[in-house]
Amino acid sequence: MCGIVGAVAQRDVADILQEGLRRLEYRGYDSAGMAVINSDGRCASHRRVGKVSELGTALTEQPLPGGIGIAHTRWATHGTPTEDNAHPHFSGRIAVVHNGIIENFQSLRDQLQARGYRFQSQTDTEVIAHLVADLRSQHDTLLDAVLAARKLLHGAYGTAIMDTEDPDVLVVARSGSPLVIGHGIGENFVASDQLALLPVTRQFQYLEEGDVAEVTRTGVRIMDVDDQPVERPIQESNLQHDAGDKGPYRHFMLKEIHEQPYALRQTLEGRLQGDTVVAEAFGAHSLDILSQVKAVQIIACGTSYHAGMVARYWFEEVVGIPCQVEIASEFRYRKSVVLPDSLLVTISQSGETADTLAALRLAKDLGYMSSLTICNSPGSSLVRESDLAYMMRAGAEIGVASTKAFTVQLVGLLLLALSIGKQRGLDITDIALALRELPGQVEQALLLAPDIEKLAEDFAHKQHALFLGRGSQYPIAMEGALKLKEISYIHAEAYAAGELKHGPLALIDEEMPTIVVAPNNELLEKLKSNMEEVRTRGGQLYVFADADAGVVSEPGISVIPVPHVCNLLAPIVYTIPLQLLSYYVALIKGTDVDQPRNLAKSVTVE
Ligand code: G6P
Repeated sequence: MCGIVGAVAQRDVADILQEGLRRLEYRGYDSAGMAVINSDGRCASHRRVGKVSELGTALTEQPLPGGIGIAHTRWATHGTPTEDNAHPHFSGRIAVVHNGIIENFQSLRDQLQARGYRFQSQTDTEVIAHLVADLRSQHDTLLDAVLAARKLLHGAYGTAIMDTEDPDVLVVARSGSPLVIGHGIGENFVASDQLALLPVTRQFQYLEEGDVAEVTRTGVRIMDVDDQPVERPIQESNLQHDAGDKGPYRHFMLKEIHEQPYALRQTLEGRLQGDTVVAEAFGAHSLDILSQVKAVQIIACGTSYHAGMVARYWFEEVVGIPCQVEIASEFRYRKSVVLPDSLLVTISQSGETADTLAALRLAKDLGYMSSLTICNSPGSSLVRESDLAYMMRAGAEIGVASTKAFTVQLVGLLLLALSIGKQRGLDITDIALALRELPGQVEQALLLAPDIEKLAEDFAHKQHALFLGRGSQYPIAMEGALKLKEISYIHAEAYAAGELKHGPLALIDEEMPTIVVAPNNELLEKLKSNMEEVRTRGGQLYVFADADAGVVSEPGISVIPVPHVCNLLAPIVYTIPLQLLSYYVALIKGTDVDQPRNLAKSVTVE
């Protein structure tokens, strides 16, 4: 969704801002803009509908010199994607960029209009500009004006503001939408995501909820939610500088699919010692908490929700404790019953998904014994607000369609299950051994890429596809269907194969390809019967099957043999060919693989 970058330096900042925006493109947006104050104290700006490269063209034609500036990628909420609605928004001396939603914008707009302010856009953001401009005349500093404005703004937002009459200061405010300050030498930066600033700094300070900060070239002053000065720790990022580059790959998604063996090794590194999951993997004091867990409630959205659905099988079958899994947007709006000694587990690549965060906050009042997050973003809201955290170490994931984050989340969840299980007397020796083999098995699965690229041709002209799986492969079928619809725009549905005859069988014909995930497990014979039901009705089956499963290619069935893997880890390995399939189908269809239409990487609004 929307992205913010800001800089205050002794050099021109336009290039830094443009590169920062380029690095935030993955979040999804529909217009971009930048404003810079030059050495004469004049503010100039460009705003463009479309890609950051359009903004780049405008900057080449008419550069924006100056040492302080703010920039933005906008994902439209209030007002269509037009140049007028693109950020920054202005009110006299004030320029503003903003992520999130100002819920009371209409009443503020009415009041400000009555006071003579003229609105140029349909956005909620413009009220911030006029409100701060209005308050600025009553306060000595921009910081004080923003602190006063904050009391009047309702909603979830992150904002960066500058003032042409105070051209050495950026003020940022965080209320529900992440912001980070990047510390340089004689220059400082702000952004909604540290990835934007990696070319210029690795020293980051995360703002907490309600913080407002004044950022100058030489210092940062932070005020907390009660307007009191506060220190926030500066942390060194270990993200690679090139995390935002595609390297030799055509798309980030393909790069991230192929990074999975490395990401899996990284997430396992130092976390399994012999047949023990090291307690530190989940944070200090985790042993005390995990030893008391008698039930697990998992909350997540999208792909992360599918990871939770797989984990349910592990918690119930392997550990033997009850586990429920729910979509965050449902959980947060219904009354639920909490089992005794329940651990609330949130799963999130970004750590900022609005519904998941709201569910965590709600759960704090519901009586869960503790909360734990499986998350890829250190310093994110979910990490800061949870009692325990498993940091995924998957590296930056840029493609909107989640790939490596999913398989790494699965490993994190399995380690959690094993850690709880071990304390309940479970012997995890064999599983620990198998986990060490996993990155190599994923490498083997990636070798299927050329075969799957050919297979993709069969799908590219279809309108619909059906994915089938049973047991812990059912969520993998769901994830496969989600990947296909996200990036190729083919309508895809997943069913637990046993449900076929309760509806979807009616859809089967030669135009509806059916993809089946079929490892060699105790449900294989049942699955074979389900496949037969499809075949006898003229459906074409594409079966990802264990080489020993006894399923062979014949008319109506194309079998893609997947390297043998133990049952427990099969969901992780069988994910790989489904990711590759959706990627190659999208490639043939020519869609925007990394930034599919209408989708955003980090969904920070409800
Ligand atoms: C968006 C992304 C998905 C992701 C979901 C949950 O929809 O496009 O890839 O699975 O959000 O995000 P999270 O960051 O909480 O895992």
